[in-house]
Amino acid sequence: MCGIVGYIGTSDAKEILLKGLEKLEYRGYDSAGIAVRNGEDVRVYKEKGRIAELRKVVDASFESSTGIGHTRWATHGVPNHDNSHPHQSETGRFTLVHNGVIENYEQLKKEYLSDVTFKSETDTEIIVQLVEYFSKQGLETEAAFVKVLELLHGSYALGLLDAQNPDVIYVAKNKSPLLVGLGEDFNVIASDAMAMLQVTDTYVELHDGEIVIVTKDDVEIKDIKGNVIERAPYKAEIDASDIEKGTYAHYMLKEIHEQPGVMRNIIQKYQDEAGNLLIDPAIVKAVRESDRIYIVACGTSYNAGLVGKEFLEKWAGVPTEVHVASEFVYNMPLLSQKPLFIYISQSGETADSRAVLVETNRLGHTSLTITNVPGSTLSREADHTLILHAGPEIAVASTKAYTAQIAVLSILAQVVAKDAGIETGVDLLPELAKVTAAITSIVDDAETMEQIAKDFLSTTRNAFFIGRGMDYYVGVEGSLKLKEISYIQAEGFAGGELKHGTIALIEEGTPVIALATQENVNLSIRGNVKEVVARGANPCIISMEGLEAEGDTYVVPHVHEMLAPLVSVVTTQLIAYYAALHRGCDVDKPRNLAKSVTVE
Ligand code: G6P
Repeated sequence: MCGIVGYIGTSDAKEILLKGLEKLEYRGYDSAGIAVRNGEDVRVYKEKGRIAELRKVVDASFESSTGIGHTRWATHGVPNHDNSHPHQSETGRFTLVHNGVIENYEQLKKEYLSDVTFKSETDTEIIVQLVEYFSKQGLETEAAFVKVLELLHGSYALGLLDAQNPDVIYVAKNKSPLLVGLGEDFNVIASDAMAMLQVTDTYVELHDGEIVIVTKDDVEIKDIKGNVIERAPYKAEIDASDIEKGTYAHYMLKEIHEQPGVMRNIIQKYQDEAGNLLIDPAIVKAVRESDRIYIVACGTSYNAGLVGKEFLEKWAGVPTEVHVASEFVYNMPLLSQKPLFIYISQSGETADSRAVLVETNRLGHTSLTITNVPGSTLSREADHTLILHAGPEIAVASTKAYTAQIAVLSILAQVVAKDAGIETGVDLLPELAKVTAAITSIVDDAETMEQIAKDFLSTTRNAFFIGRGMDYYVGVEGSLKLKEISYIQAEGFAGGELKHGTIALIEEGTPVIALATQENVNLSIRGNVKEVVARGANPCIISMEGLEAEGDTYVVPHVHEMLAPLVSVVTTQLIAYYAALHRGCDVDKPRNLAKSVTVE
C-alpha cells in the first residue's frame, strides 16, 4: 500500500527517491510521484501507473538534493495524475506526501477551506491546504503543521516541504508506518527500511503523535507539545541480497523456493543449545494462563491462523478461535475470563489487525504478535512477539510467511504442551525436518506443478478447492493464492459443504482441486470428488504418500498429518504461480492489491 520516501542531503535526490520508490513497489500502488527542490524552486512530477512511467516525466537536468516521493494506492479518488501525490497548497509553497486516511477531511474542508480551489479528490490535499491556511494566519511552518495535526482524525504518515524553509523536511506519523534513516551529510525518511537500504542501514523508529524536523545534519523528534524525545537508532538487519530477485523470474517464485531455508532457519532460531524447542517462557506462561485464545488476522495470515488453531487446541489444549480482524473490531464476541490475543501478521502493519490490538490493549488483555518484521507496529504494541525469521517477503502474494507462521505456531503449541505435561505423541523437530525435505522435493519438482497448471487452469474462468479438516484450510489458502495472482475466480470449500449450494456452479470441465492428506477423512473427500466428477468436474487430486489412490494427480511426500498443510500448500502456491504466469499476469504486482494494507 502507499509508500513514502524522502531525502535531504548533498547527492542527487531524484535518483535516490526513484530507486526508493522502486523498492516500495512490492507494497502495491497505482500511481507515483516525487517533488524535488532546488532552493525555493520545487518541482513536482507524478504519473499514473508504474515508477517506470514516472521516470519518463522526471526532468533529469533539474538539480536537487532534497525531495519527497510517494507511491499511491487509491482510496479517495481514482488513480490519475491529479490525485497522485505529492500534493501542493494553492500558492505552491507547501508540498506534501501522505499515507493513511483522514476521516474528517470533508468537515475540515468545509470549516476552513471553503475559499480554496482543490486540484484533487483526495483527503490528503486538505492537509497541505490547511498548513498554508494556518501559515497565512501568521504561524511559523512548524507551528502550522502541529496545528493541523491536532485537527486531523485518522491515520497518517506525512512528509512536508516548505519552499521558504528549504533545509527541512517536516515529518509526522499516526497509525501509519514511517521511519527516519540516518546518514553522513544526509538523512532520509521511508515507509520501510528496504526503500532506503541503498543509502543507509541505520534507522530511528517514530511513534504515533510525534513530529520530526529532518535536516541534512540533524533529526529532531518531538512530541505534539514540543518536548524533544531522544531515541537510539537501530541497524536494519536486512541483507541487500534478500531484497533482490537474483536468478528467479519473480519474487513469488524466489520466495516459494526459499521455504526449505525458512524452515531450517525457524528450527534453528527456536532451539536451545541442547537441541530442545525454545519459546520465551513469558509467552508460554501467557498461553498457559489463558482460558481461550483469540487469533486475529487478515488474508493469508488468517488462513495460517486456521491451521494454528488446530495445534493450539489439539496439542496445547487451549480452546482457540480465529477471527477476521476487520469484522472482529466492530463485532467483538463475548470474551472469556482470561483471553490471550494472538495477532498474526507478516508485515506487522496491517491496519485492521492493529485496530483490534488497540482495542484489546485498551481493555487490558494480554497480546502476542507473530510477525516477520521486528519493530513493526503490531510487534511494538503487543505484550509479546514471536518473529517468523522468513526474510523479507516482497511478492504481494504471501507464501513463505504463511508456512513460517504455521511452523512457529506449531512450535509454540508443542512447547506449551510440554510445559503443561501434555503428551502429544509428536516429536516436532524431526517432523519439521521431514517437512523441510518434503517441501524441497516439491519445489525441485516445479515443472510438474507447471504442467498441472497448464492442464487444469490455462483457460478456465473458475476453479474450486475442496478438502476436509486441515486440507480445507489449505484449500482456502490455495484458492486465495490462485485468485489474487491469476484472477481466476477460485473458492475453497469444506469437502462436505460444496454440495449444499455451490455444486450448482460445477459444469463440464470445471477444475476442482481436492486435497487428500488426512487419513480420517480420506474416504469422505474422495466421495466428494466423485460427486463433482459426476457433474462434469475436472478433478485434480493432491494426496499424500500412504493415502494415495490410483489416478491422483500429485502425491506429496509423507509427513505428520498435522503438518501436512506446510507441504501440500506449496503445490498450490506453485500451481497458482504457473497459472498466473501462463495467463500473462503480473505475478508480483497483481492488480488492485497491496502487500501491506495500512488503511482500515
Ligand atoms: C494484504 C496482502 C495479503 C496479506 C494480508 C495481511 O491483503 O495482500 O497477502 O495476507 O494483507 O497482511 P499481514 O501483513 O497482516 O500478514
